[in-house]
Amino acid sequence: MTSSKAEILTADDLSSAVEAICRGDVVGLPTETVYGLAGNAFDASAVTKIFSTKERPSFDPLIVHVASSLMSVSSLSAAGIINGKAMSPGMVGIFESLAKTFWPGPLTMIVPKHEKISDLVTSGLDRVGVRMPAHPTAQKLLEKCRVPLAAPSANRFGRISPTTAQHVMEELGDKISYIIDGGPCDIGVESTVVAIDDNKVWLLRPGKIAIDELKQAVNVPIERAPSIHEKASPGMLASHYAPKKPMYVVSDIDNPPALLQTKSFDLLVTAGDPEGSLKQLAAKGLKPSSTVALSRSSDPAEAAKGLFAAMRALDRSSGQVMIATTTPSEEGLWLAIADRLRRASTMS
Ligand code: TXA
Ligand code: MG
Repeated sequence: MTSSKAEILTADDLSSAVEAICRGDVVGLPTETVYGLAGNAFDASAVTKIFSTKERPSFDPLIVHVASSLMSVSSLSAAGIINGKAMSPGMVGIFESLAKTFWPGPLTMIVPKHEKISDLVTSGLDRVGVRMPAHPTAQKLLEKCRVPLAAPSANRFGRISPTTAQHVMEELGDKISYIIDGGPCDIGVESTVVAIDDNKVWLLRPGKIAIDELKQAVNVPIERAPSIHEKASPGMLASHYAPKKPMYVVSDIDNPPALLQTKSFDLLVTAGDPEGSLKQLAAKGLKPSSTVALSRSSDPAEAAKGLFAAMRALDRSSGQVMIATTTPSEEGLWLAIADRLRRASTMS
């Protein structure tokens, strides 16, 4: 742990970050989804450092990020990341079709791991999550380091994922030496995570790449993982991405929860003009301390991009609790937003 604050680097000069990765240290890294906390995936002490810096329990496996040259099963096997020999032809076909369609990009695929990837990375599972990030700065660091980078989101465990370098500073600035500033993340929610079977794809975590898009890329069933399968994705704990104050997702703002009679609150409007919600609340004599509207035009890409920053801002506002309106649908990217809101919310 360092007593001073992390130094912010830019893509122009990554030399300090490259040196840090080479000596087994961890750095804050921009990706197109959220910021990651990156370390050499082949270095057990770097991986241990990722877990301790995040205060993440060891049962929650890390995603391994790879350079854009590693598109095929054979190249990823030769690089010591996945085990192509343990993959059936069906699995290889699905993997390569999805890689061809969505990489580099916000898709993580869970496949058999190479023995060079330690059990620490995968939390003892025999499969590893692999993702080829699209952010040019992430790719630049991968090329310069010449090792795959294990990187979870750069937040303290269970808290809101960071989508700017400043968020990483707030979360981990006193624990790491460098944060690379790549600007605000374009997508704003974490990658779609899928487990690849011989003739089926399991959706473990919804993200920017939606079920319909996956279906168009591969001619096999895409299924949302049932709870039994969720054991294979131990990180999908019900409570996650959580603000410090209690948060409630409200489907009918005209019928607000009773606790608003006694508690001050902040309001997150996921879609549409907030005036309607504010009027309905005012009719009940209720007024939020602060309001953020994610997308007045109900555009899910805009809503996703601003979601975590809005949750952080409202967490700092004076309301005792946070109220979020439900998404207008659970189609496409709205499913990922609805999933994050559910996990952030206080279970009653
Ligand atoms: O967009 C993203 O994926 C970001 C950026 C930094 O790339 N990373 C990220 O990592 O969200 P993290 O650690 O916060 O979430 C990884 C998720 C967890 O739910 C974890 O349980 C699951 O992926 N996962 C990783 N490896 C797995 C494996 N071998 N089997 C099943 N699930 C796995
Ligand atoms: Mg995370």
